[in-house]
Amino acid sequence: MKWPGIIAAYRPYLPFDDQTQIITLNEGNTPLIRANRLAEHLAPRTGLKLYLKYEGLNPTGSFKDRGMTAAITQAVQEGAKSVICASTGNTAASAAAYAARAGLRCLVLVPEGKIALGKLAACLTYGAEVISIQGSFDDGLAMVREIVQRQPVALVNSINPWRLEGQKTGAFEICDQLGGRAPDWHCLPVGNAGNITAYWMGYKQYGKGLPRLLGGQAMGAAPIVRGEVVQQPETVATAIRIGNPARWREAVQALDESGGIITAVSDDDILAAWKLLARLEGVFVEPASATGIAALKQQIDQGEIDPTDKTIVCVLTGHGLKDPETAVSHATTPVTLPANTDSLEQYLTTHP
Ligand code: F0G
Repeated sequence: MKWPGIIAAYRPYLPFDDQTQIITLNEGNTPLIRANRLAEHLAPRTGLKLYLKYEGLNPTGSFKDRGMTAAITQAVQEGAKSVICASTGNTAASAAAYAARAGLRCLVLVPEGKIALGKLAACLTYGAEVISIQGSFDDGLAMVREIVQRQPVALVNSINPWRLEGQKTGAFEICDQLGGRAPDWHCLPVGNAGNITAYWMGYKQYGKGLPRLLGGQAMGAAPIVRGEVVQQPETVATAIRIGNPARWREAVQALDESGGIITAVSDDDILAAWKLLARLEGVFVEPASATGIAALKQQIDQGEIDPTDKTIVCVLTGHGLKDPETAVSHATTPVTLPANTDSLEQYLTTHP
């Protein structure tokens, strides 16, 4: 069956009518990958059924496309000619793509020097006006919130409710892919806290059961865990380098309602989980996307989550090619050999 994108696929659950002109790149329908080797590593012989929701396979390489198809569709419906967002990179790339498709002007504010290369490359190529601000994501968000009060430009950050409407479809898909039921635990990274809010909306609306939520924040950017704004957030996971999440209150409510947990993990733990995903399962994500796995490992190790016979889904939010610089700097260097078979054979026999 041809997949029409999340709005057409889940229209009865979304506030769009049949007349709406949908702006889509056929986002969604991402695979839910069973991860037996990783499950065995995290919790040997417990019967843990671990699944990876690989959102990096969306059209612009992150889960943001689910929300962006909805936000841009609505912006066009309301007659907008320009859209704007602050972003650590993925929202910007997604906004840039959907705006291009709709023929809208797109401005993106990104923190100078703290946006991964693949995201910057995408924004520039889609033709967005990239504004590098000498400040953090949080500073950028404050700026765009203010400018939309003064100028006729539509805000497409996740404070825009249409973003959440689109993103909640991730929960619908997971329930569908599990044969019509929610997992026991749902793990994901938390930055601006839009996604955790949207997933919880989705599970509640779909009526196929409710998981407990496990949110992971990076230790250097963990305002919700610490209960206070982080003035200068810092983490290798630049996507979630956020000190004052816009959906903070909603995230805490979702965590409470679900009997969930939010925890902080170190950059080392994030990178270890990121490597495990690639090496045990062949799934390459950007570092932030491994935060849910790192959080799950921590909670199992600490005895806070009992994995026995549980179904657990981890959302992998962005593709590994988004951040090639971090990938290369944390990998071994390639072996260089002369271009002949004897050298190759010598290498093979001396490196058993
Ligand atoms: N993972 C990735 C890869 C992200 O890009 C983000 C957020 C998150 C997780 C966290 O999601 O903010 O809904 O809690 N990126 C935003 C951006 C902030 O601008 O691209 P959240």
